[in-house]
Amino acid sequence: MTKDGVKLIVPYKLKEILVTQAQLHNKVQELGRWISADYEGQELVLIGILKGGAIFMSDLMRAITIPLSIDYMSVSSYGTSATSSGAIVIRKDIDADIRGKHVLIVEDLIDTGLTLNHLKEHFRSRDTLSVRICTILNKPSRRQIDVQVEYPGIEIPDAFVVGYGLDYADQYRNLPEVWVVDTEG
Ligand code: XMP
Ligand code: MG
Repeated sequence: MTKDGVKLIVPYKLKEILVTQAQLHNKVQELGRWISADYEGQELVLIGILKGGAIFMSDLMRAITIPLSIDYMSVSSYGTSATSSGAIVIRKDIDADIRGKHVLIVEDLIDTGLTLNHLKEHFRSRDTLSVRICTILNKPSRRQIDVQVEYPGIEIPDAFVVGYGLDYADQYRNLPEVWVVDTEG
């Protein structure tokens, strides 16, 4: 991002792999088993957060062995592309009727926690039976608000990462593993 907020088109260098495909796969299977056991016999709706959560969502839903329905939502937060502020705008809301259902929010990464804290409150106010969070990546050292993450995925250090859905300037989402970006490069 330049100081005018214009996205750079020159890609940053990828530094190293932080989370391998095998680690991602194993964690997805583990989360899938855990969620299947917890929601057995309940009406579950997975809500994937676009765009970053889309890859994890498609893997996670196939690792869950109980009936479920899905929907997607798109939110944006203000700030640079490497940080996020508290202000959140809903770009695309869900279509599904979630009243009386158990909602599980599926996210790529929890950083400050501000986005998810806002989303949890948003879904709680819609007459849901429960609202929980599942994320594949988690940066607890960056938390600004104490939001409960029931299915926390893989803990990573404070580095800017791309791949497995995560982007820099909307690039790199298709990398099958998670990379650290060289932001000084
Ligand atoms: P919060 O509100 O928890 O925001 O600060 C989480 C969202 O911020 C984005 N984010 C990142 N995106 N690499 C990315 O590509 C990162 O290292 C990173 N850290 C935060 C991401 O969209 C996440 O959903
Ligand atoms: Mg995101």
